[in-house]
Amino acid sequence: MEINTLGVCGAGTMGRGIALTAALSGCNTILFDLQPEALERAKAQLKKELNRSIEKGKITEALAAQALARIEFTADIEHCVAELFIEAIVEQPEPKIALFNQLAELNHSDCIFASNTSSLSITQMAKAIQHPERVIGLHFFNPATLMKLVEIVTTPFTTSAVQQRAWQLILDLKKTPVLCIDSPGFIVNRVARPFYIESLRLAEEEKASMPQIDRILVAAGFKMGPFALMDLIGNDINYAVSCSVYEQLGKPERLRPSFIQQELVQTGKWGQKSGEGYYQYKSA
Ligand SMILES: NC(=O)c1ccc[n+]([C@@H]2O[C@H](COP(=O)([O-])OP(=O)(O)OC[C@H]3O[C@@H](n4cnc5c(N)ncnc54)[C@H](O)[C@@H]3O)[C@@H](O)[C@H]2O)c1
Repeated sequence: MEINTLGVCGAGTMGRGIALTAALSGCNTILFDLQPEALERAKAQLKKELNRSIEKGKITEALAAQALARIEFTADIEHCVAELFIEAIVEQPEPKIALFNQLAELNHSDCIFASNTSSLSITQMAKAIQHPERVIGLHFFNPATLMKLVEIVTTPFTTSAVQQRAWQLILDLKKTPVLCIDSPGFIVNRVARPFYIESLRLAEEEKASMPQIDRILVAAGFKMGPFALMDLIGNDINYAVSCSVYEQLGKPERLRPSFIQQELVQTGKWGQKSGEGYYQYKSA
């Protein structure tokens, strides 16, 4: 492995999946979250995911136990000493920058700081951190254990050594790296934005219901319909990404976020993770 100890910050939807991917690849992993309950939930979810893989014959019980043992779950930032960190916390620049600066105090000056942000400027983050050359974007997709693609986002500061170490890490995790220039939403989230926004417009205009739109797009060949996908992503995250891409691109009317998204976020209907979003889910 390129990296012996990986730090993952944020034990939510993405962080726990990235941590499990790393642990399954043999990497010692520290999974840090501010909320002890989030760590408990993450541990329970990862056990469930590993048990499913055992039942399907994809891994042995011994391998699953070894992978879980490689993850240190911690709410103590003092434990966060690693060669590379991937943050997967809230989709806002200030907390991400504050976290990297806290980690910088605890780690060697060549420790790499990667953000899993879906849309925020990696360059702006780098500018706010000492040694900006070590800041990079590593954008995994949901579910992180299954999805192969990882966008590697470089900034004008990123050195080729940092880029190469990040690239090798992604290969070691058995993922497919692609290089992207830092720009709002990078590639996938920029291209995907109208998929969500236009579907929301159709629903707002009552031209079709949400389940209808989902069914038709699946029939047309998409793996998931937009509403089911937004619920999987998390409506809080998807709305933050919609707002961020819209603002950064100069507020084009075609990408204006929908009031439906705002309402779901404000009423706690965050999708699968909260038990309700565009659809209802049995257990959160
Ligand atoms: N959900 C997706 O489909 C998806 C896909 C790709 C990238 N992303 C990006 O990944 C990041 C995380 O998204 P998510 O869906 O996993 O979010 P989430 O809401 O599921 O989890 C975020 C976690 O971060 C924790 N947290 C918040 N502030 C923290 C801090 N300062 N230090 C440590 N932990 C903190 C929270 O307690 C929570 O457990 C976002 O930047 C998002 O844009 C999300």
